[in-house]
Amino acid sequence: MKKKNLDMPSNEFKEAGKKLVEWSANYLDNIESLPVLPKVKPGEIKSKIPQLPPIKGESFETIISDLDEKILPGVTHWQHPNFMAYFASTASGPGILADLISSTFNSNGMIWKTSPSLTELEQTVLNWYREMLGFPDYFKGIVYDTASVSSLHAIASAREYIQLGIREKGMSGIPKLRLYCSEHAHSSIDKACLTLGLGLDGIKKIPSNENFEMIPEELEKAIADDKANGIIPMCVVATIGTTSTTSVDPVDEISKICKKENIWLHVDAAYAGVTSMLPEMKKYFKGIENADSIVSNPHKWLFVPIDFSVLFIQKPDVLKRAFSLVPEYLKTNEDSQVENFMDYGIQLGRRFRSLKLWFVIRYFGVEGLQERIREHIRIAHQFAKWIDQSEDFEKLAPTPFSTVCFRAKPKNINDEEKINEFNERLINEINSTGELFLSHTKLNGKFTLRLVISGIRQEERHAENAWKLIQKIFYQLVK
Ligand SMILES: Cc1ncc(COP(=O)(O)O)c(C=O)c1O
Repeated sequence: MKKKNLDMPSNEFKEAGKKLVEWSANYLDNIESLPVLPKVKPGEIKSKIPQLPPIKGESFETIISDLDEKILPGVTHWQHPNFMAYFASTASGPGILADLISSTFNSNGMIWKTSPSLTELEQTVLNWYREMLGFPDYFKGIVYDTASVSSLHAIASAREYIQLGIREKGMSGIPKLRLYCSEHAHSSIDKACLTLGLGLDGIKKIPSNENFEMIPEELEKAIADDKANGIIPMCVVATIGTTSTTSVDPVDEISKICKKENIWLHVDAAYAGVTSMLPEMKKYFKGIENADSIVSNPHKWLFVPIDFSVLFIQKPDVLKRAFSLVPEYLKTNEDSQVENFMDYGIQLGRRFRSLKLWFVIRYFGVEGLQERIREHIRIAHQFAKWIDQSEDFEKLAPTPFSTVCFRAKPKNINDEEKINEFNERLINEINSTGELFLSHTKLNGKFTLRLVISGIRQEERHAENAWKLIQKIFYQLVK
């Protein structure tokens, strides 16, 4: 049989590649001409795509033309500078290109041998990242896809740390375990408890103060109560930058309680962790050196394409004890000299993600990244000032980072429920323009609008335009 490369021919790959890089550059250049939120109904995109696969291959031109005609109309444009919802996460040029190389290598870093560069670049770049954030060098970093998965592994380590033989015997017959976090902790912590057999009853939500920060005295009380009732305190999760308001739990005080009680402390800094690069933001990270584990997501606010989450862990041996299981076919002669990433989690295969962070840090430099994040915080604080100066709006939470929580307060409405309805209408009207995308939360029963500045293409003019649009729609609604 004649030898034949069955892949796409190289010349066609090059041509298509050039076209697609150009397509991507044009997309980013023209993104502001697109509506940030697509105007499609559920099922509309699906209805345009054949329900059965093509029997014969199709030309690349046809595929790209379908990308434009069938897919693009249903894309929510996270790269759009008017995407100010959730934690606005964007991908930068170097990060996008690194993803291409990762797929080109298609390395699977199960073990050192299956791609030494993958393992060693990840180790090195995470050391860089740790240095950039100013965390002590006893933290070892590991990449997972998302903060949800990083926290799951941190909490699994906390469960292993109490040494009840769960690895061998499972959860049956062991005393009840407890995880503590504030009412504002992310739902991924609850999901980790579901997955690890603690159940939702295994979580105690600690009350917060008026600034949405966990109250350490309440934590102490909850731990004492549980101990008196034979429940084993297993883990405390503190958050630096909670999802709704970006409030900061007092990690320093919490870490002292954890130390006294010998409880694992996990810090969720998925969004705000990157700000530890800035000397002026260090005040929010007091006590971080005492955490057992910390999660920070470069895919949220460091311009690295999704997905990319880093778990820093002080006791990697505990994480390894929880997960390491080596089948015969994965044993190698180098095992005693190297780190095999499969030992540090549930997944075996892993893509070459560290290329993305490596490209991004090298291209922008630490100073370049610091400048961008600092500018986001400045713009968000500017927006917060406009809210404070307005008679028709009020801020509903402090703004430590780049997320502003606020609501409209029409003078002619006094009833709280009606104010909520008004704000819900306001955000729906804003988002339906396609010019701006905000998300919401509820704080003390108040419907709250959230505006986030963390995208690489966001400038002050975008915040100004957002503020103009919000006011314009407000005045239309109060008329
Ligand atoms: C504080 C915090 N932790 C965890 C997560 C979950 O992030 P991921 O999507 O990476 O799992 C979020 C999501 O926004 C978050 O805000």
